[in-house]
Amino acid sequence: MESQADCDLHLAIIMDGNGRWATARGLPRTTGHHAGVEALRRTVECAPDLGISTLTVYAFSADNWRRPAIEVSALMSLLRRYLREEVARLVEAGIRLTAIGRRDRLPDGLSELIDRAETVSAGGAKLHLRLAIDYSGRDAILAAAAACGPGPLTREALSRRLSAGGANPDVDLLIRTGGEQRLSDFLLWEAAYAELYFTDVPWPDFGPDDLRRALHAFHGRDRRFGAVPNSGAPAAARPAEADRPAVVARAGTGGRT
Ligand code: FPP
Repeated sequence: MESQADCDLHLAIIMDGNGRWATARGLPRTTGHHAGVEALRRTVECAPDLGISTLTVYAFSADNWRRPAIEVSALMSLLRRYLREEVARLVEAGIRLTAIGRRDRLPDGLSELIDRAETVSAGGAKLHLRLAIDYSGRDAILAAAAACGPGPLTREALSRRLSAGGANPDVDLLIRTGGEQRLSDFLLWEAAYAELYFTDVPWPDFGPDDLRRALHAFHGRDRRFGAVPNSGAPAAARPAEADRPAVVARAGTGGRT
């Protein structure tokens, strides 16, 4: 396997399979989510050494509110506990934590805990951990477009809005555990050119060896970004957003199309 430590990857993970992992063991689904937090800890710990600089994980989707109230409440408690108890460890390890998603529907105090975690960990340079909480990719695109204001809407401006917190929003590799093969409204804009990796391993069982396997597969992929390699044209580099034309003019703005 090639050396990965000098990469600068944005990894995104859909941490799926917690419920089935628990049910298969005759345990309540919430036990699966507890085990999922442990899997997240393991992943965060080994990520920097594997060349990952940004890690975005799907902790709670905007559609997860439709789950039974007892499970929603357990997930919110887990998030609360993670933000209270984990942050000191993250700061010590040089990890910056931010959150993406809505904050106005979270239970009392959670939004403040996120703010505090973001503030105290702001100096972390080893890894940027982004928790997607009450997150919807479609809603994030709509909100970013609205925040751009009037005038021509460009890819660059939208990307900048979506990267709130300064991360490079473009995802290099998106892993989904638990056997399903869909995006479930996760990072729809940011994953436009992501390599997708699906594994049957349920999230609570996911460990450093599974992550290494996924990265090995990723490094074996031929990323062309739509170009033809060796054709004389600039090929497999991440396309610079600024090189692209403005794409949308909104009604009444007089912008170019
Ligand atoms: C999907 O598994 C997982 C979730 C909806 C929640 C993910 C949350 C965690 C891993 C723990 C909380 C995170 C933090 C940061 C404290 P599922 O329940 O849909 O599994 P299933 O498909 O087997 O039912």
